Amino acid sequence: MPAEPPATGAPDSGDPIGARYPNTARIWNYQLGGNDNFAVDREASEAANALVRALGVPAGAATAVESRHLQQRMVDYMLGQGVRQFLDLGSGLPNMANTHQIAHRTAADARIVYVDIDPLVSSYAAALMAGPNVVTLRADLREPEQVLGNTQVRDLFDFGQPVGIMFMCVLHCLWDSEDPWGVVRQFRDAVAPGSYLALSHMTREAHPEAAEGLFRISQDLHWNTPLISRDRADIARFFDGFTLVEPGLVAPAQWRPDLDNPLRDGHDPDDCGEPVLKLISPEDRGVGWHLCGVGLNDRP
Ligand SMILES: C[S@@+](CC[C@H](N)C(=O)[O-])C[C@H]1O[C@@H](n2cnc3c(N)ncnc32)[C@H](O)[C@@H]1O
Repeated sequence: MPAEPPATGAPDSGDPIGARYPNTARIWNYQLGGNDNFAVDREASEAANALVRALGVPAGAATAVESRHLQQRMVDYMLGQGVRQFLDLGSGLPNMANTHQIAHRTAADARIVYVDIDPLVSSYAAALMAGPNVVTLRADLREPEQVLGNTQVRDLFDFGQPVGIMFMCVLHCLWDSEDPWGVVRQFRDAVAPGSYLALSHMTREAHPEAAEGLFRISQDLHWNTPLISRDRADIARFFDGFTLVEPGLVAPAQWRPDLDNPLRDGHDPDDCGEPVLKLISPEDRGVGWHLCGVGLNDRP
């Protein structure tokens, strides 16, 4: 997979929300069973699903649902370590069990900042996830100062206290040349000792052919971001300056499955404001598209 983005023209002023081409936020929403997507996103999702199924690999929906379960466990874990501030970068369209809903189950005083670059995400998040101790921000995480210097963020967070920095399924949207490692480093350097990094990233480790195929599809269909699967060593490098907690860098299904407590299973997500996670069937577990981990910033 190339490290450089292809040359692109200026943003299309006739397409302000990027409805003409497939969009990562909306594709993820479709894979999670949401309705906030367009035909172009559904077609791209199904093309990707067909490609990986033809290679005998479970498709995107299983990965997406498993990722949301993982996110719940990682937030639960950080809460258990005393973290009360969460910076959810590339947060995505509001969907099942969002970070503030997970955190506020056990800690009503937890503070959450959601950051996403996408205009649709930003307006939906502002409408659906607003509330006490929650800030929703449209910003580009490739420019950490946009987030770290934002007045609302600085008013909500106490940067003298630990922060749970979350990059769930987003760093594979950045090219090598955009230095995603440097981006993580800048967020790391802005937070107090005792902070955590929670991360899940696409890997080519388990299914190299399918990973390459997904990258190609993202390019051929002009998705708004690439899908760059990285190897274990490159994903481990995101944790420079952090100590990985047990069980280390593993597939999502292997990351503390004992913490799994699917939120409010059986409730209709349209029925109430409660967070809901879909059940994962046993055959969908361990899909292995991602490597994930949580690291502790334990430097004095
Ligand atoms: C695959 S979705 C993951 C959503 C959520 N974190 C999850 O795991 O369910 C990736 C999200 O990252 C956002 N994103 C991609 N590049 C970004 C950037 N440079 N800055 C902020 N958000 C970005 C996309 O708009 C999208 O909502």
